[in-house]
Amino acid sequence: MSRAAMINAKHCLFVSVLAACAALAACSGDEGHDSNAEQRSSSAGLPKGQIEAGEKQANTKGEATGQSCIDCHGAEGNDPLDATYPKLGGQHTDYLAHALQEYRNGNREHALMSNQAQGLTDQQIADLAAYFGSRPAQIRDLSGAH
Ligand code: HEC
Repeated sequence: MSRAAMINAKHCLFVSVLAACAALAACSGDEGHDSNAEQRSSSAGLPKGQIEAGEKQANTKGEATGQSCIDCHGAEGNDPLDATYPKLGGQHTDYLAHALQEYRNGNREHALMSNQAQGLTDQQIADLAAYFGSRPAQIRDLSGAH
């Protein structure tokens, strides 16, 4: 390799290392460094959930479907009607609340679940999430369920 070519190659390497550093710096920006936990929550903005109110709500038959959460997800969210329905007991409260928000706003769709979330208020979502999140966990994957 000629001297000029070598300098060129070194220059190239230097430039790409610089570019990689810049990319890394950009990625490790402010995101994820928020000191406010509420802001980091994927269900941010919901009021504080009440476990007792959530238990009551979970057993209340919805007007739209005539079914309660417990009718499908079973006692404490842990005894689903069908093996492919998710268990809810002990799931992260924030995950549950986020899932319900997504069904409610249509970002997540499911023939059975979407209309269950449609009429829920923010408070009801927070309460349901607090209730199911506080139950014993039997979370498992769906291997063999189908
Ligand atoms: C008619 C049966 C039925 C009823 C009633 C029902 N669910 Fe569901 N639920 C399902 C099914 C089926 C799924 C899985 C849907 C999917 O794959 O998106 C599900 C999914 C969920 C999920 C997402 C779980 C996950 O792991 O991502 C949450 C949270 C949930 N339901 C909460 C509730 C709550 C709270 C109620 C009462 C307001 C309720 N469900 C009523 C059948 C039902």
